[in-house]
Parts: sequence; structure tokens; C-alpha cells
Amino acid sequence: MSSILITGGAGFIGSHTCLQLLEEGHYLYIIDSFVNSSPQIVERIERLFSKGHEKFEEQFNLIGGDIRDKILIENIFKSSIENKHAIEAVIHFAGLKSVEESTLNPSLYWDVNVGGSINLVKIMEKYNCRTIVFSSSATVYSTDNKCPLSEDSQIKPSNTYGQTKVTVENLLMSLYNIKGEDWKIINLRYFNPIGAHPSGLIGENPRGKINNLFPYLNQVASGQKKELRIFGNDWPTKDGTCIRDYVHIMDLAEAHCLALKYLLQKGKSDFLSLNICTGKGTSILELMRHFESVNSCKIPYVFVDRRPGDIAISFASNDLTSSTLKWSPKRNISDMCIDGWRWQQLNPNGFEK
Ligand code: NAD
Ligand code: UFG
Repeated sequence: MSSILITGGAGFIGSHTCLQLLEEGHYLYIIDSFVNSSPQIVERIERLFSKGHEKFEEQFNLIGGDIRDKILIENIFKSSIENKHAIEAVIHFAGLKSVEESTLNPSLYWDVNVGGSINLVKIMEKYNCRTIVFSSSATVYSTDNKCPLSEDSQIKPSNTYGQTKVTVENLLMSLYNIKGEDWKIINLRYFNPIGAHPSGLIGENPRGKINNLFPYLNQVASGQKKELRIFGNDWPTKDGTCIRDYVHIMDLAEAHCLALKYLLQKGKSDFLSLNICTGKGTSILELMRHFESVNSCKIPYVFVDRRPGDIAISFASNDLTSSTLKWSPKRNISDMCIDGWRWQQLNPNGFEK
């Protein structure tokens, strides 16, 4: 059992990962500002946690606050030492993730994603905590690369959001390069995480405008949105719609547990970037047809203009991740559609009543 600080642990990927870490017996400090999540996640995770209320109270500590708040982060490290559960590692999810918003409000994205990360690692250094798993993204890769992408494909993000992710990867690389400090670092580059916990109790809970395909698709299926607007049917793909590498959120959560275990067991410093993907590309029409077939529903859709900044095809090899972490995705597109739809049906308004 280890003590772990999880930033952004109330969010989509964070909440699924927290549950798995709790089940593995870890002691969690979670910091989240709830800018894109809800404190109601606590009750949901507690309901799913198999070891009961007392263990949950002991293992799960959620602190509301911002990763840019130096005093708060420092206090979390201090109290973890006082409580004899000194933080040994960090999983750093907290950040803003809308590509569109990042182009409209770049200074906010640099401040939260990069400024917040600098604040975090400075305090980690001060408290001798030098193990971190960082949430990076497929957007770090150049759009000139051929798919499948691999970790050594060219890095050249085409938007501010992606640039903030590369900058944090570079920041972590420069820490790793400090002689004698022994930083242990994994950047997980996620492709397109979708789906939900099979219970339907936790899932993706976007606030405000929905930008991503899967939550939008769910809302069309439930009748909350009239139709799916598919951005372009003239892409150079087999059916003219964009291809992405969708990965089940439960597989993604498992990858975090394995990445953490790998680093905690590692006797010396390390720096790795790993793709979290299935290696398979699925077009929008294919995803939609799967969804309709496994959930016995109809998705009304229209084709509209291409979305600025989109790319035709994005999928990647997970060979390095599989060999390093002994991870491979266990769930397929049908599982993603079934589990995601269950979450949507049980929670049409997310965590709000
Ligand atoms: P999410 O928005 O559901 O979770 C992020 C969490 O961080 C939220 O709970 C939010 O309230 C919190 N947060 C944001 N700013 C904060 C701040 N300043 N201080 C404290 N908490 C803050 O998003 P997610 O999908 O779970 O993504 C998690 C991470 O993975 C993000 O860093 C994101 O950029 C990255 N990522 C996500 C995807 C994806 O498609 N979901 C793909 C690639 C990378
Ligand atoms: N799409 C539609 N209609 C919609 C929403 C999306 O047709 O209403 C299309 C997009 O044009 C794209 C595909 O569905 O072709 C997937 O779009 P998403 O927005 O769901 O995902 P992206 O691949 O564009 O981007 C996502 C995250 C980024 C992350 C990237 C790679 O939003 O933050 O995956 O990890 F960087």
C-alpha cells in the first residue's frame, strides 16, 4: 500500500482510476477544483468500493482546491507526513482539456496546465517526492506523422492545448536530467477515452458545451440533442469520416495503476512516454453503427463542414506500453458503447439531479 496524491481525481479519468487504486489498497489524497467535475463523485465511489465505509473514510481524502495554490498543495504534503502516510507518488490529471477553448483563452491554459504543473513539481521536490504519472495526450504528435503512431513519432502539436502538454512533458524531462535526484516519470499519452464504469455509477460528466463525440452521441441517443453533427464526410478514409483510436475508460484506469506500480518498484530514475490506445482505428460512422446495434437505438445525424484543426486519422501502436507495463486493453468498442450508454441512461444530467 502506498500514499498517492491524485490531482484532478474527481474528473472522468481520475475518478475511475481512484476507484481502482482504492481497491488495490492505496491511501489517496485527491485535490480537485471541481471546475469540470462534482463533489458528488465521493458518494458514488464509496458505493462502488468493495471494502466498506470505514476503509473508504481512511483511504479516500478529497480536498477541494486549485493545483496553482502553493500553500494548499504544501499543506497536503505536510499533513500526509503528520498522518504517517507521506505521499510517495503523484498522478497528475488536473488540467483543462478543450482544444477549442485553448485557442480562445490561451493564457488560462498556460496558467492551469503549465503553471499548475510547475507549482506541483516544485513542492514535490521540496518534499522529496519524485515519482509522477502525467496525463499527456495524442495531440502532442505532429499531424504529418503516418498512423499507427509510435512514441518516437514526430512531436509537433497544432494547438495551444497540445503545446501545454508537450511543455509539461519537457519540464518533467528536465527534472529527470538532474543528476542525483532520481525522478521516476511516465507520461501517458491518451488517445480517445470513452465508456464508463460498468455499474453506470461513474462516467464522463462534461460541464458546459460538449465538444467530444461520445458524450454528444449519448445525448442524441437519449433525445437531449436532436441529431449528431458529423464534422465532414469527405475525409480520405474508407467512409469519409474521421478515424480515432477509442479506448475504454476502465482499461485506461488499469494502465494508471500499472504505470504507478512500475515506477514504485523501479530502483532507479526513469523517464518514459507511453501511448494508451488500442492500436485500432474506428470511423465515426462505425462507432455510431456499433452504438446503435448494441444499444438497439437510432442516432439521427447530419453531415456538416469539417471542424477546424481536426485530422483525418489518429491511431497508434501500444507495443511499448504492453511490453513495459504488461498492459493490454481488455474491452472492445461494443463494451465502450454499452457501458457509456448505461451511464447516460442512469444519469441523464450527469451528477446533477
Ligand atoms: P476532466 O475534466 O474530467 O478531469 C480533470 C479534472 O481536473 C476535473 O475534475 C477538474 O475539475 C480538475 N481541474 C481542472 N483544473 C484544475 C485546477 N486548476 N486545480 C485542480 N483541479 C483542476 O478530464 P479528463 O478527461 O478526466 O482528463 C484528465 C486529464 O487527461 C487532463 O489533464 C486531460 O488534459 C488529459 N487528457 C484527456 C483526454 C480525454 O479525451 N479525456 C485525452 C488526452 C488527455
Ligand atoms: N466529432 C463530430 N461531431 C461532434 C464531435 C466530434 O463529428 O459533435 C468528430 C470530430 O470531428 C473528430 C471525432 O469526432 O473527427 C472525434 O472528436 P473528439 O472531439 O471526440 O476527439 P478528438 O480526437 O478531436 O480529440 C480528443 C480530445 C483531445 C485530445 C485528443 C487526443 O478532445 O483533448 O482526443 O487525445 F487531445
